[in-house]
Amino acid sequence: MIATPPISSQNTAFQYLPPDGAAGSPNQSLMPLTARVNDRDHLEVGGCDVVELLEKFDSPLYIVDEATLRAGCRQYRDAFREFYGGESQVLYASKAWSNLAICAIAHGEGLGIDVVSGGEIHTALQAGVCPSKIYFHGNNKSRQELELAVTHGLTVVVDNWLDLETLVAIAADSPTRVMVRLTPGIECHTHEYIQTGHLDSKFGFDPNEVDAVFAFLAQHRDRLTCTGLHAHIGSQIFELQPHGDLPGVLVQWLVKARSAGLPVDELNVGGGLGIRYTESDDPPTIREWAKTIADAITAACAAQGVIPLPKLLCEPGRSLIGPTTITAYRVGSTKTVPDIRTYLAVDGGMSDNPRPITYQSLYRVVTANRMSAPCDRTVTVAGKHCESGDVLIKDAQLPELSTGDILAVPATGAYNASMASNYNRVPRPAAVLVSDGEANLIQRRETYSDLLRFDCLPDRLKG
Ligand code: LLP
Repeated sequence: MIATPPISSQNTAFQYLPPDGAAGSPNQSLMPLTARVNDRDHLEVGGCDVVELLEKFDSPLYIVDEATLRAGCRQYRDAFREFYGGESQVLYASKAWSNLAICAIAHGEGLGIDVVSGGEIHTALQAGVCPSKIYFHGNNKSRQELELAVTHGLTVVVDNWLDLETLVAIAADSPTRVMVRLTPGIECHTHEYIQTGHLDSKFGFDPNEVDAVFAFLAQHRDRLTCTGLHAHIGSQIFELQPHGDLPGVLVQWLVKARSAGLPVDELNVGGGLGIRYTESDDPPTIREWAKTIADAITAACAAQGVIPLPKLLCEPGRSLIGPTTITAYRVGSTKTVPDIRTYLAVDGGMSDNPRPITYQSLYRVVTANRMSAPCDRTVTVAGKHCESGDVLIKDAQLPELSTGDILAVPATGAYNASMASNYNRVPRPAAVLVSDGEANLIQRRETYSDLLRFDCLPDRLKG
């Protein structure tokens, strides 16, 4: 193995490696923290050679670095312990990638899990997550999903009147712990699809309903125990200011809830910390984010006479799982449109990473089997789907490539596998967890039979 190679403008691939190994905040690193170039000039993650991983597991392949995930969990957990004088609990927002192994690792690091559907509840429970550490969100929970949550003793984050009415009806025998999600009216700068805290949002109660909601909960305290309040302002946020503003609003509501007779003692500030997808992204560190929130809650509690400090919860998704993963593809066909561009197609695309086509998200890419090859070409990395917009990276700086070369796209752990599809009946990729030179499958590659699993052919159509 060789040390991190020197950076040269001819060789931009190297710029994507973390400068100082496993140090630093994972959300600031383009590559997983254990990424290295080995003596075969291949990209290595978690001590595993990416080229060998593809020989064994085929492509496309999600490669998840366990050390990066654990580092993120520990940094969140330790930062809240360091900066906050009260109790704290970090939850992993499993919408970013709900998977047994990922939930088990997060839980093993002391985190709880935020879930938003019956499927995510099932995954967290099957991963062995303790029900008292599972928080159930959603703006349109079905009765069955709420029953599942109540039966297992999860905390339900109530979002609307239907949640409240359904819970009162089903929680007769077992009083259910609830938190109230409110829309704080805080704007932040991110893609409009992933802003959630501004007033015109489908999530949470509008602030003008607060009194009525608290009165309803006080009236039904035999069935619903309101332990806390929740707000989430959006995702992929680089500014600290909106996160610093949120606690003041939450603490005001906490005071109101207590004066309505509710035993509110928990505040959940949601998730939202951004990650680095390209060199120009510059998110704050996990520690800076946690300190901003801890300080703001502490100050707001002091100002409003709230003693002792309430329990503080947060639920990051992207910043925990996003930086852990690279997606490795094999290069297939190429097409050069003279004087316009060269397209280079890989064996995946929008079905394994729908973020570029959905949010115009930018990604970087490296050549995993020839890391030191000079990046002297500008090419557009396209997917294999029948859709012109299926482009993963426009105008990437890459070496001259040929069929069979291996490309690796970093920062693909969040909202990639979890939003993947079978468009064009392309089977979803496998995922491997890498650690100390060992690779374990955490998601099996889909087969053609898997694709037909839910199709039904009525007898009268059988030939
Ligand atoms: N809590 C709540 C209530 C949320 O709605 C979300 C994300 C999170 C926590 C986690 O936020 P994070 O820490 O991951 O930013 N598919 C989009 C992102 C949607 C985010 C939805 N809610 C994307 O690919 O960018």
